[in-house]
Amino acid sequence: MTTRPFPDDFLFGAATAAYQIEGAALEDGRKASIWDAFARVPGAVIDGDNGDIACDHYHRYRDDVAMMRDLGLQTYRFSTSWSRVRPDGGAVNQAGVDFYSRLVDELLGADILPWLTLYHWDMPQALQEKGGWTNRDVVGRFLEYAGTMHDALGDRVNVWTTLNEPWCSSFLSYTGGEHAPGHTSIAEGLLAAHHQLLAHGETIRELRGRDANLNLGITLNHTVADAADPQNPADVDAARRVDGQFNRWFLDPIYRGEYPADIIEDFRAVDADAVAQFESAVQDGDLETISQRIDTQGVNYYHGDLLSGTAPEHPPISGAPRTERKGRSPYPSDAGIHAVERGLARTAQNWEIQPEGLTRLLRRLSDGYTAERGVTLYVTENGAAFDDVVAEDGQVHDEDRVEYVRAHLGAVLDAADAGVDVRGFFYWSLMDNFEWAWGYDKRFGIVRVDYDTQQRTVKDSGREYARIIAARSL
Ligand code: BG6
Repeated sequence: MTTRPFPDDFLFGAATAAYQIEGAALEDGRKASIWDAFARVPGAVIDGDNGDIACDHYHRYRDDVAMMRDLGLQTYRFSTSWSRVRPDGGAVNQAGVDFYSRLVDELLGADILPWLTLYHWDMPQALQEKGGWTNRDVVGRFLEYAGTMHDALGDRVNVWTTLNEPWCSSFLSYTGGEHAPGHTSIAEGLLAAHHQLLAHGETIRELRGRDANLNLGITLNHTVADAADPQNPADVDAARRVDGQFNRWFLDPIYRGEYPADIIEDFRAVDADAVAQFESAVQDGDLETISQRIDTQGVNYYHGDLLSGTAPEHPPISGAPRTERKGRSPYPSDAGIHAVERGLARTAQNWEIQPEGLTRLLRRLSDGYTAERGVTLYVTENGAAFDDVVAEDGQVHDEDRVEYVRAHLGAVLDAADAGVDVRGFFYWSLMDNFEWAWGYDKRFGIVRVDYDTQQRTVKDSGREYARIIAARSL
């Protein structure tokens, strides 16, 4: 069997997010975030689960870091919790800051590079009560929070990511109703997305001004939208709309300083008043702020979509509501768009397994946006939920996940071979955790978590990942 080496500077890591693993929801001064509140809305999360305890990482972080070291991880992507650090969105909670300081020290002691994300969806509920991301004032609160984290960790943390997947924390949350705060307004989705991008740009400007050596960036989630029949104009248009709302709505302002005009018109056709509100919210200078130079873009990729615009009905395309909540589609102009079955194997969430989509995505990002600006790409999330079973030997022989990881790492190497500047891969997730609207029902980890005992068990996929990291080849 031939082996494929990874470039010398390629980083192998795993990712988590604060609310999904920490628990200790009301300890040491932390107060409710929008997810604490939303998880209590009947029907919002499968089985009524919440993150009160989660993986109890807040108390077990030392053991968890030791486990990362044993796996050979070179880097660990985690998020800090705004509601732990500034519980009301205002005054600083020093105990919360101290937790992240201890975590960073532990990582550095284990020779693991901390890869810090400032916003992975847990805004203080107190700010949501003032309108959350629809309120422009929140941008200033976010900047204060970012400054607190940099004051505390800037001497030890070099890689700073502003936002994780703003599509999810705007359209899926304020328009689709599937994520916190669970609203179903097109105008709110547009305002939330704009203010998040503004918070991103302001934070990049602030941190760059503080230290020119920082590695600064954002993580976006992407789809690969293909037309079911490339000769059929309705299918081509369906793919354009999904790509535009999911990918270009964020890429174009960040890299080109403009929102995609065709998508604005799609939104206007559905809700002219929402677009009028959005247009008056975009102030002079905003797009210049949003398009600040970044060093790194994180790419989260799970699957693509094969789309038809001609089907008579439209069952949800990927990302549409999956819980019993009846939100509206997070794609405001999705009328008539229909995801077509193409016979690919699927994960336990019914997500298609499409590794070649990752190669095409990375090439498209590089060719269209990042290469000419010298921005480096990192796959900051990729992974899958499968119905894991604990075998009689006490182990999890998750062959499907082993295959998944190998196939997607191969897809990253294919992109690198094609000349894409992609320098790292973070498996989602280090361990089973609170998967948002899916609660604890779906397990993504390369490490199993027994939620009764909090015992961690490295799955076969974890062992295979560790082997690949040690060999630095596939
Ligand atoms: C990404 C998020 O959207 O996908 C993660 O950044 C998330 O936080 C992961 O857990 C899997 O999605 P889900 O909806 O199954 O939790």
